[in-house]
Amino acid sequence: MTASDREFLKIADITKTYGVVKALTGVSFSIRRGEIHTVLGENGAGKSTLMKIIGGETGPDSGEITLDGRRIEHFSPAAAHALGIHMVHQELAVFENLTVAENIFPYHNFKKGGRIDYARLHEETRNKLNLFGLKTIKPEETLGSVTLAGQQMVEILRSIVAEPKVIILDEPTSGLNDHEADLLLNILKRLKGEGLTIIYISHRFKEIMRISDRITVLRDGEFVATLENTPDLAESELINNMVGRDLSASLYQIKTVANTSPDAPVLLEVKGLAKRNALNPTDLSLAAGEILGVFGLEGSGASRLSRMMYGLEGKDEGEIAIKGKRFPKVNPRLMVAERVMYLNNNRKIAGLLPELPVTDNLSLPVLRRFSRFLGFLNLKAIARLATDFIKAFAIALPSLSTRPANLSGGNQQKVMLSICLVPEPEILIVNEPTRGIDVGAKTEIHKFLLDIASKGVGIVIFSSELPELMSLSDRILVMRENSIVDEVKAGDYTEQTIMRYAAVGSAEPEGE
Ligand SMILES: Nc1ncnc2c1ncn2[C@@H]1O[C@H](COP(=O)(O)OP(=O)(O)OP(=O)(O)O)[C@@H](O)[C@H]1O
Ligand SMILES: [Mg+2]
Repeated sequence: MTASDREFLKIADITKTYGVVKALTGVSFSIRRGEIHTVLGENGAGKSTLMKIIGGETGPDSGEITLDGRRIEHFSPAAAHALGIHMVHQELAVFENLTVAENIFPYHNFKKGGRIDYARLHEETRNKLNLFGLKTIKPEETLGSVTLAGQQMVEILRSIVAEPKVIILDEPTSGLNDHEADLLLNILKRLKGEGLTIIYISHRFKEIMRISDRITVLRDGEFVATLENTPDLAESELINNMVGRDLSASLYQIKTVANTSPDAPVLLEVKGLAKRNALNPTDLSLAAGEILGVFGLEGSGASRLSRMMYGLEGKDEGEIAIKGKRFPKVNPRLMVAERVMYLNNNRKIAGLLPELPVTDNLSLPVLRRFSRFLGFLNLKAIARLATDFIKAFAIALPSLSTRPANLSGGNQQKVMLSICLVPEPEILIVNEPTRGIDVGAKTEIHKFLLDIASKGVGIVIFSSELPELMSLSDRILVMRENSIVDEVKAGDYTEQTIMRYAAVGSAEPEGE
């Protein structure tokens, strides 16, 4: 490898501040030509900021970046594209109302005569999709109807058709389950084989260890180390570098005994909830103090179930009972009034008001409780409450008036979770509660959820991360093809069985 290959993308002494926040301080390291280089660090460590600089979305305060010996003079996405650098965002930037083909080839017009040659556009798109084994996605369907995982793949394909030299993927798998992440990782390996240089960000160690050639660790905006991913590299070494202290005590303890007492009252019942072609008649019940996990691969109906339970999506049949009170129809407002809170799994920061201070965001669901007189808010109480959560979850934010739009991805997620917890719910329905959250903070959030459950809160948790489900849940329901196909109790958890139920169902005879 020549010197210029070793320093293909050279990051030299980059500093970036936002007001009082030092997002990056004198960061220097190099990325080799054709490698998969992971950037690792806690929430708020500065990963996305560095990627935005390389991708030309913002300029550094000082320092320089060179690609293939050429210094980047202007920091703009167009300039980055011209150099061959493409970035796939932490939040998806796809157009849901355009077709898959139009999303993949937004800059090509495939004109014939004065018109767009749709036949060719669709054929080219199909070729690309097939190349990556994405046969279930149709070029002519609107992207809004494609699964989240599919949309993610489409966004990556869009960067690739521009034939870049470097692609940056900021947490591409955070909304994907293991199976989908697997597909993506295979695609990345293949692209690497074709000579592409890939900068990768993830909080999932398994995939980092699997895919990276080298790993650079950032902490508090500073460079810590670049490590070769050799067989002797231990996950604990990465974690210790990342958090700057020894965190090697096991992160995930699989729950072996259900904590729910048999005479705990039932808090929530779902009876015969169904929607044509979306959910087969489904029953479930949740007791006080119970943590009920729901696992399903994309398309299993699990996320639809979560939305229908909360009245975010219509149903044809069925009812919900909350503490014995029966509701033929529910909606989010009614659910909040019944002290049921919901964390959605939208990758964008839906649910947050990005331009309002974090405190306002935290206080929205409880404004009533805090208004002393009509229209007068007890601002002190709100601030106190906000501060409690900021401490509990180590939310990195410069001040209470910071807007969520300026927080790192993981810190936005912590704020969203806090919003669900501020009204002190009796029932909590959460989707991917720790998505994008670093290992240290994750443990804190898990502890918190276990703690409120021990005080009687009932929690339904939908997660694509099996280890997370197995460490929190007293029971796990497995979904496949719009039905609950199995129930596994704490004590019987193994990743293999649950995965097998989710993929092929338990009815499948073994050993055939
Ligand atoms: N536009 C902005 N305005 C103000 N502060 C910002 C802005 N963007 C980022 N920051 C701050 O810079 C720091 C680094 O954020 P960054 O998004 O780079 O973290 P990250 O390593 O990507 O974290 P995560 O794992 O949570 O995505 C954070 O403290 C964040 O609040
Ligand atoms: Mg980030």
